[in-house]
Amino acid sequence: MTFTISDTAYSTDSAEAKEAMYVDLRSQLQGLVHGETDWIANTANFSSLVFNSMPDLNWAGFYFLKTEDELVLGPFQGKPACIRIKKGRGVCGTTVEKGEAIVVPDVHAFPGHIACDVNSRSELVVPVFSKGAIVGVFDLDSPLPNRFDEVDAQGIQSLVQILEATLA
Ligand code: SME
Repeated sequence: MTFTISDTAYSTDSAEAKEAMYVDLRSQLQGLVHGETDWIANTANFSSLVFNSMPDLNWAGFYFLKTEDELVLGPFQGKPACIRIKKGRGVCGTTVEKGEAIVVPDVHAFPGHIACDVNSRSELVVPVFSKGAIVGVFDLDSPLPNRFDEVDAQGIQSLVQILEATLA
């Protein structure tokens, strides 16, 4: 079996273009995780698919809730990042507290934002659930301000749901 990902140059110029990109990414992700339940392998390939397919990203990856109040770095693509984030800290820890996706148009305007890569200007963090409980987050960073919107939040959540189904 070969694992290739499309080298389509996706446009993010309109909601329609973004939605078409997420339709395509869902299909590619289904292929990547098909028949595989290993969580490290699936989250590693998930990060690679997103990072190498979506335009204008400088980081994409997971933090897992290893204890009740602390996230630990998981599989990712991009520069080395901070390893541990307390619940309630930064965008990732706030996402754990709220249990819902957070779109940050300008990281400099988010109180407590944790700067892992100085190039990051905007960010999207989506929670990951297993059996109704939050088990981590998927974090995307962009060097462009205002890179992410609700269409991206919904689109990434739809990809994360495919991943969550491999845990069932
Ligand atoms: N900016 C995140 C930290 C993780 S890095 O962006 C990879 C935050 O504020 O939680």
